[in-house]
Amino acid sequence: MAESGDPTSDTINALMAEDRVFPPPDSFKNDALVTGTFLYDEASQDDEAFWARQAAELVDWDTEWDTILDWQLPDAKWFVGGTLNVAHNCLDRHVAAGRGDKVAIHWEGEPGDTRTITYAELLEEVCRFANALKGLGVEAGDRINIYLPMIPEAAVAMLACARIGAVHSVVFGGFSSQSLADRINDAEAKVLITADGGYRRGAVFPLKPAADEAIAETPSIEHVVVVQRGGNDVDMVDGRDHWYHELIGGASSECPAEPFDAEHLLFLLYTSGTTGRPKGIMHTTGGYLTHVTYTHKYVFDLHPETDVYWCTADVGWITGHSYIVYGPLSNGATQVMYEGVPNYPGNDRFWEIVAKYGVTIFYTAPTAIRTFMKWGDAEPAKHDLSSLRVLGTVGEPINPEAWMWYHEHIGGGRCPIVDTWWQTETGGMMISPLPGATTTKPGSATFPLPGVRAEIVDDDANRIDVGGGYLTLTRPWPGMLRGIWGDPQRFRDTYWSRFPDRYFAGDGAKLDDDGYLWLLGRVDDVMNVSGHRISTTEVESALVSHPSVAEAAVVGATDDTTGQAIFAYVILRGDSDADEDVLRAHVAEEIGAIAKPKRIFLTPDLPKTRSGKIMRRLLRDVAEGRNIGDTTTLADASIVDELQARATSSDD
Ligand code: WT7
Repeated sequence: MAESGDPTSDTINALMAEDRVFPPPDSFKNDALVTGTFLYDEASQDDEAFWARQAAELVDWDTEWDTILDWQLPDAKWFVGGTLNVAHNCLDRHVAAGRGDKVAIHWEGEPGDTRTITYAELLEEVCRFANALKGLGVEAGDRINIYLPMIPEAAVAMLACARIGAVHSVVFGGFSSQSLADRINDAEAKVLITADGGYRRGAVFPLKPAADEAIAETPSIEHVVVVQRGGNDVDMVDGRDHWYHELIGGASSECPAEPFDAEHLLFLLYTSGTTGRPKGIMHTTGGYLTHVTYTHKYVFDLHPETDVYWCTADVGWITGHSYIVYGPLSNGATQVMYEGVPNYPGNDRFWEIVAKYGVTIFYTAPTAIRTFMKWGDAEPAKHDLSSLRVLGTVGEPINPEAWMWYHEHIGGGRCPIVDTWWQTETGGMMISPLPGATTTKPGSATFPLPGVRAEIVDDDANRIDVGGGYLTLTRPWPGMLRGIWGDPQRFRDTYWSRFPDRYFAGDGAKLDDDGYLWLLGRVDDVMNVSGHRISTTEVESALVSHPSVAEAAVVGATDDTTGQAIFAYVILRGDSDADEDVLRAHVAEEIGAIAKPKRIFLTPDLPKTRSGKIMRRLLRDVAEGRNIGDTTTLADASIVDELQARATSSDD
């Protein structure tokens, strides 16, 4: 990595020039949960004992575990022998402790309608829906697909599954029917929970029609539950499709939270890898809940009595699972959940929401921050943001400029920023500051959290103490993935084979002279567009599935707003007349709008090595407008000049 001409080498230089430091303000430290190094010290003495203490303090167990960790690479079992119920931990225990009237969710619909849901109300609705699912024949271990907008029913559906031991697989509402069908079929899900539609940018986007299209190819689905939200017309199939409100209306609110094994499968969440087939990442019960409860509490310095927390992610991603549903609810937090886009009706919608609910902890993605920067300082300045006290980012590296803007214009110069590095696979945060303890540097995720061990290694697996290399994790952690659904070999190959005895994250990273970690982006063929992971191969397969396309090559090129943008180079079949728009629409239909290439260049040929491998690095250079250096290994060097000419002539 970091070969000359590689975009990451520029990034390294820019990042390494950063020497501003931000110690936690004294006023913040006064009330902070963690100020010194005691958690780090404790964890470095004995990480297993450390995690066991967190599990015992932060989570309610029905049965104590007898073994903290059973580790046989790559298979980890945490809290072996322990039993618990995740929904009990997220709901019942708070109500039992007298906090039933505390607001769990301040929900804000995009059109401006709102709902306030207390812990007692959420518990009741989860019990009713859990009973409704049982009534549809759902049993522990069954897979349930969820394809919903950002409405409270998404959290209810997940928790209802957890309550009865069913395994949810949430598919982001922006994914196409084809992506939904693929995920349902891979998991062989029995029930699909969807909605008529949801609101987005002022209009209803229909979901049920996409769900109908998917179910036409998913033999395992027996029932479909439909939440009414958009009010759009939908077809309901007798006996198969059920309205959510009718089901819960007829269901009892008594549903005991049965204990499940600590290693009982809690959910699957599909994410892109380097092949065309998304991976069903498996997360289990006890370790996952411990990890997300612990990180949500300490990384955000959560004071549940007074804080109002808001994570702007969608429940369809791991951030929504861990830091909208499980972490915050397990901690008994009060949170804001918002249905729509940040620019409806105006570019200040987020800041209006922060002021309206008095949000104190705000967690969003760098791509959003860069977009806010573009919209101008005046938007946040219209609102009183003085309630904010901790800011977080996740999903991609944050450039120092965006960090500084976030610090000044959103945080008013007083809020610590936690840049949290983690992955769908890690389940919870792994590398991040603790806001009352860590001196931050803009653009650095700083240090592994207490309990986490990360190291940078070179190509030969030698540890690097200063400089760049591959990010690896050297110890198992409770929230770690337990495998890829149906594909143990891919699990081993992807994460545990590149370096002996280490988990390979797929990211490049660098350690500076002070031991700070700087994340540098993916080193594999996975793109990161607006914090969403999309594989180049997946987009290539979508393109070649169009009858007009003979061959396609896809690269992620640096983009000022979205981090990376998707560029595709396509060779058409001789007799076809498809154009860029047709092919972009085709990708949206195959995968979803998030995977639509920003540009598609039609080309007569692609640069390849003599052995026939597509030269992606060259294509990235072309996409980023860099001059191409040595092309002597190319089978046909002239194609590069032609591609470069096209890229510049069609620049807007
Ligand atoms: C990939 C994981 C974790 C939830 C959202 C994305 C990148 C994530 C950071 C960060 C630099 C980051 C990595 C990682 N990433 N957080 N703070 N700094 N890069 O989850 O879709 O599983 O993607 O996102 O490249 O491998 P995901």
